[in-house]
Amino acid sequence: MTTRRFEPVAGLRGELRPPPDKSISHRAALIGAMGEGTTRVEGYLDAADTRSTLRAVTALGARVTERKPEQPAGGPASAGSGASLPGSVDFEIEGVGLRGPSSQETGAELRIDVGNAGTLMRLLPGWLAGQDSGRWLLDGDDSIRGRPVDRVADPLSEMGAGLECRDGRFPPLRVEASRLRGIRYELPVASAQVKSCLLIAGLLAEGETVLLERAPTRDHTERMLRAAGVKVSSEARTRLPTGPPPRRVSVSQTERIEPGSISVPGDFSSAAFPLVAALIVPGSRVTLADVGLNPTRVGLLGVLNRMGASATVVEGEPAGLEPRGTIACGHGPLKGTRIGAGEVPLAIDEIPLIALAGCFAEGETVITGAAELRHKESDRIAAVADGLRGLGAQIEALEDGLAVTGTGGLRGGRFHAQGDHRLAMLGIIAGLASREGVEVVGVEAAAISYPGFEADLARLCGGDTQVAGQ
Ligand code: S3P
Repeated sequence: MTTRRFEPVAGLRGELRPPPDKSISHRAALIGAMGEGTTRVEGYLDAADTRSTLRAVTALGARVTERKPEQPAGGPASAGSGASLPGSVDFEIEGVGLRGPSSQETGAELRIDVGNAGTLMRLLPGWLAGQDSGRWLLDGDDSIRGRPVDRVADPLSEMGAGLECRDGRFPPLRVEASRLRGIRYELPVASAQVKSCLLIAGLLAEGETVLLERAPTRDHTERMLRAAGVKVSSEARTRLPTGPPPRRVSVSQTERIEPGSISVPGDFSSAAFPLVAALIVPGSRVTLADVGLNPTRVGLLGVLNRMGASATVVEGEPAGLEPRGTIACGHGPLKGTRIGAGEVPLAIDEIPLIALAGCFAEGETVITGAAELRHKESDRIAAVADGLRGLGAQIEALEDGLAVTGTGGLRGGRFHAQGDHRLAMLGIIAGLASREGVEVVGVEAAAISYPGFEADLARLCGGDTQVAGQ
């Protein structure tokens, strides 16, 4: 484990193109593997998590041919150059078809290592469960082994799948090919991973699969399947007396999909770190280029708007399946706000950053309806509360969220990443904005989703993050 110290800086300035979107990259590889013929994927995230997905689909018989990134004129990473960026890879993937993933010829189970990738662990069973034959064992690292899979195993079993997991709840997850039937299922937790798993299983199931969401979650799978020729219906329903309007998403049994080509925009969740850093470090002015702006991902912008942040968004020309554009942001005063269950799924991975911004705001920032954060790469409610409190924050863990009393700044100290990439990046940002600096323990976890994170920040800080390796 690596510990590094991040000293306060005088400001972040300049332009940055964040790495490709992790969620969309996982789906591009999986849906490309399920497709007929060749799918071209441009700007796939080249990081630990998404490499796990490429290895998995290769083990299942898909053929991935990487194309050498062209060096953009004017040096690497120049925004808008159109060429491959560091942290990204272009490839062609020859799919095995919806009903073609390999298993062991001997009838033994094929072991798939998902590493740290929760999205792979939750989406892949949807594809494997509906095959005509085969057995697979999905397993991963210690963090994955502590994350529940019953949320996909239960509804898949209802569809007729043969599944088995440890203590009925945790990986490793055994999947046996079975005949599936469509179900009508109301998601008990707002989860795009569960929705996506069941939509994929629905392609192989007899009849129609209907999913009801109480709060909208990211819709990358729906967009990608539609572009591949699948009829995915999605409608917002009338408000029930007891809650927000459920969204109804459905698919029917499908013979084949043809994804064609997929271009991956910059990851809003990665861009959110330099974005919030710019808001809380005096003297900052940062432009984030080619960022994915899917409305089901950018809930943070609405929250920051209420906090009085200086951030403007310019949507670019439509290109590909996902909206993208530029965000310009800078330092300014912030005030506290409240975030509830309806808004949480649209900012689920950014809640730790909202808590950090809350430390620098005037008044209270209260987040509720976010119990899901306890099941991420770490228990993010406990880890954020303990971690930021250790740096001098007035923060309390709630059962389903966080309550922060802003003090206008953070002292600094030692922050443990808990093996969680988003916490590693949170600690680094906290260090740059702190009065005394922050030592981040386990800083290497950032590479799970953002391999060049420290280098990108150093550039925005004028080559000077005053990092001292230990
Ligand atoms: C993801 C969905 C979210 C998110 C995760 C990626 C996805 O998880 O937190 O980082 O790619 O579908 P849940 O579906 O568990 O909310």
